[in-house]
Amino acid sequence: MSRSPAAERVSRFGTTVFSEFSALALKHGAVNLGQGFPDFDGPEAVKEAAQRAIRDGVNQYAMGMGAKDLRQAIAEHAARFYGQQVNPDTMVTVTSGATEAILDVILGLVDPGDEVVAFEPFYDSYDANITFVGAKARYVPLRPPDAQHATWWFDREEVRAAFGPRTRLLILNTPHNPTGKVFTREELEFLGGLCAEHDVKVLSDEVYEHIVFAPARHVRPSTVPVLADRTVTVSSMGKTFSLTGWKIGWVIAPPSLRDAVQRAHQFVTFATASPLQVATAAALRLPDSYFQELATQYLARREKLLRGLKEAGLPAHAPEGSYFILTNISHLGFPDDMAFCRHLVTQVGVAAIPPSVFYSPEHRHLGQGFARFAFCKTDGVLDEGVRRLREGLTKHR
Ligand SMILES: Cc1ncc(COP(=O)(O)O)c(C=O)c1O
Repeated sequence: MSRSPAAERVSRFGTTVFSEFSALALKHGAVNLGQGFPDFDGPEAVKEAAQRAIRDGVNQYAMGMGAKDLRQAIAEHAARFYGQQVNPDTMVTVTSGATEAILDVILGLVDPGDEVVAFEPFYDSYDANITFVGAKARYVPLRPPDAQHATWWFDREEVRAAFGPRTRLLILNTPHNPTGKVFTREELEFLGGLCAEHDVKVLSDEVYEHIVFAPARHVRPSTVPVLADRTVTVSSMGKTFSLTGWKIGWVIAPPSLRDAVQRAHQFVTFATASPLQVATAAALRLPDSYFQELATQYLARREKLLRGLKEAGLPAHAPEGSYFILTNISHLGFPDDMAFCRHLVTQVGVAAIPPSVFYSPEHRHLGQGFARFAFCKTDGVLDEGVRRLREGLTKHR
């Protein structure tokens, strides 16, 4: 018998749930509220800046650490929104999306046999990347809002218990996909205290940093004093500028940490699309009104989908950030979230994502009572999705 050509480190990865549900959505003509990318386009001025850069001949390799002007724009943006002082030459690396940045951070900071603490549900590339380096993930589940907690929360003792002598990295994601949780300063101070105690570094994934709904406020973990020297901030332009296909991301970190990440980056992609870096610098310099308007528009979409889901018998906690809503489905009588989402896409004509795939096998059951809906969609699409849910779920209420 010939052995599988796939290396062990990838052999347990099947097709992602996104591909499966997008294919099902296409086959059944479903409204796709599953995949997390906007069905509208980014700002004209930013697209125009990319076209101009191509016409002007910015078409050869950029500097490995990122084009100088983009690094400068990233530093200006950090100062403008968070009062963070960033040296663009020693503290920034530009990557191919946050996805590459996450891999570079893990490659650069984590050794085989080390442990990485992260919250569940998690963004799926964390788990794969931890596997790639031969490290071990220690997951702590976020708990849904309840009588004592107005938002998703974590048990401090559970987090404390996940830290040990082999812990090297804590992965944070705020605003959080898929719960919509925005970590508070007080929570970050607690986590920072643990990291200081165990000499642990932090990867802070902030790709939804500008999609936050008042009264919640995005606190950049690296601006919390106890986290400042140990945090690598990861972000990207895809969600903020509705241009997810461009895949321009970055890390911001103290020089010694940035240096470790840069060492990995130089042999992962070396450099990132030059004309799109020029346009990303222009995007990051858009006036405050652009960023305010983005959050205002997402608030209206969030309200529309929340209202529609409620009318369809799918109660949900309003997310404080990101463009996802987790609805409770446990009262509908389906065996689990996978069965519910398959029914939804094939019989009701709406695609959602079963969040149990964002949990480790040990905690998978915690995700089985929920479904994830994305509201990064135009009004017509949200209205049609809601109409179908109202009609299609009547008999389950
Ligand atoms: C939490 C989180 N991190 C990272 C990414 C990847 O970002 P990028 O498209 O910039 O690679 C996503 C995209 O969905 C995400 O939701």
